[in-house]
Amino acid sequence: MRRPLVVGNWKMHGTRESVRDLLAALLQGLPGNLAVEVGVCPAYVFIPQAFEQLQSSPILLGAQNVADREVGAFTGEVSAAMLKEFGCHLAIVGHSERRQFYNESDALIAARYQQAIKHGLCPILCIGETLKQREAGQTFEVVDAQLDAVLERAGLDSLAHAVIAYEPVWAIGTGRTATPEQAQEVHAYIRQKLAAQDRRIAENVRILYGGSVNAENAKALFAMPDIDGGLIGGASLKADSFLTIVQAAGETC
Ligand code: PGA
Repeated sequence: MRRPLVVGNWKMHGTRESVRDLLAALLQGLPGNLAVEVGVCPAYVFIPQAFEQLQSSPILLGAQNVADREVGAFTGEVSAAMLKEFGCHLAIVGHSERRQFYNESDALIAARYQQAIKHGLCPILCIGETLKQREAGQTFEVVDAQLDAVLERAGLDSLAHAVIAYEPVWAIGTGRTATPEQAQEVHAYIRQKLAAQDRRIAENVRILYGGSVNAENAKALFAMPDIDGGLIGGASLKADSFLTIVQAAGETC
């Protein structure tokens, strides 16, 4: 059985105060015996305060990226070891905003993913097609290439310690979510592709959906057999909507 996972990607939002308030509201609002794993990924600078606040809580802390190198003269990067020291369990890698706006290549993303695995951080590997690619019928091809680049470098077995997030670029922050059927089609494709190589890995790996998930549409998405939770952007910035999404995952995943 795959345990559902819901992760908030807070992107470049927040202040010390709003982060503290949001975490306090989540801690208060989460039910005691959680069926769902829940994580939050604040901007790097808020990680130390979130670590303090989340100590001995069930909420997993994550980062929005991780360096592709161990240590050294790499200005602006934050290593996996540093994130571990500040209590991180998760690290998003390959988010489409990194691919699109910062030109992160498949090779760079594979190196970031490998660093996370090496240091015991669980990478959330984001993959997904643009609208142009979908309209050109290239969705599966794109997803294949993004996944293969990482698995060739880190090995299929690494998926025992990782999570995949299918995030169609056209659905991110646009309010235009994939229909449950559109998302399920790609999730099933990814799982079948992995099953052709290793059935156990494929059955156990969690595949999250991301892209305009909100309190209203979460239930229908999570009811799909191959959708194991969500990576939530905008709707994770408000405790009420995020908690409703977590609850939906508990009921339907
Ligand atoms: P969104 O973002 O929920 O705001 O569409 C999702 C993501 O980028 O992970």
